[in-house]
Amino acid sequence: MKATARANTNIALIKYWGKRDEELFLPTNSSLSLTLDGFYTTTTVEFSKELINDELIINGVRSSDKELLRVSRFLNIVRRIAEVDTYASVISENNVPIAAGFASSASAFAALAAASTKSLGLELSKDELSILARQGSGSACRSIYGGFVEWKMGKRDDGKDSKGKQLLSEDKWGLTVLSAVVSSERKKVSSSEGMKRTVETSPFYKGWLDTVHDDLLDIKAAIKKRDFIYLGEVMERNALKMHGTMLGARPPILYWESGTIEVISCVYKLRNSGIPAFFTIDAGANVKVLCLPEEEYKVREALMEQKGVERVITCHPGRGITYL
Ligand code: DP6
Repeated sequence: MKATARANTNIALIKYWGKRDEELFLPTNSSLSLTLDGFYTTTTVEFSKELINDELIINGVRSSDKELLRVSRFLNIVRRIAEVDTYASVISENNVPIAAGFASSASAFAALAAASTKSLGLELSKDELSILARQGSGSACRSIYGGFVEWKMGKRDDGKDSKGKQLLSEDKWGLTVLSAVVSSERKKVSSSEGMKRTVETSPFYKGWLDTVHDDLLDIKAAIKKRDFIYLGEVMERNALKMHGTMLGARPPILYWESGTIEVISCVYKLRNSGIPAFFTIDAGANVKVLCLPEEEYKVREALMEQKGVERVITCHPGRGITYL
């Protein structure tokens, strides 16, 4: 049977940065994200006795060995659950600039988890889907749900308690996320590699672990009260802290480009002029700017004027996975 699913990407407000188990994608800290409506992956999966290998086509192009290996490894988990041994064809359409800090792996593995299990007739709950998606890419476990989602790190060694939990659905708080694209090139250090190096070599990583839980509590309080300013402040400091841990790694990791700094200065200037806007940056050079919908136009105009900004994509809170 063939099945198609769509998943939106998400932007972490409190970052996942570090694994305690690389095989199961178990994190060293809990994180929190907002699922967005602008970047998504639509994936069709069909398992077939005719196939002699898994096949992967992304945006019409047969994918590289590395990507296929990652998908096959994931499909092996699905095959184990369903107790089948047939190969699958996976056709994926991404409207996310791949590997440029836009968490394309989050929407990709959330969509793949949903489509592959559905195509085998498995009826998984959202919790089960989240646990499964996590084993393809950690941040994918949050994209199963819409709106604000917490990924509870869990304590168990088998990862059964490490999954996403929706805190607020996408229709409960109207916010705008403007993604300022300063580079659509593939990043040189993947998130997996970047976090591993940071955990293993950065003297600043302890500071991250000592404080990230408090950031999470603070942001949850801000969401509960719909306190936009506080939400923005906590989000911004958490992102800068994560990038700070990487600067201490050996060799250091710096994802930023000159355009990244231009956008950060622009956000500071907007705030000084009385427009509340805040930024966050994932493992890449692009910057996501959070603002209120009523300021969306002004903030977008200001971002577009910055040197190095190729384009600005407007997003709003988005839904969790859907089947097409
Ligand atoms: C900086 O989920 O892409 O975007 O689990 O190794 O696939 P893997 O990493 P990934 O890392 C995301 C890192 C981040 C922060 C976040 O999304 O929480």
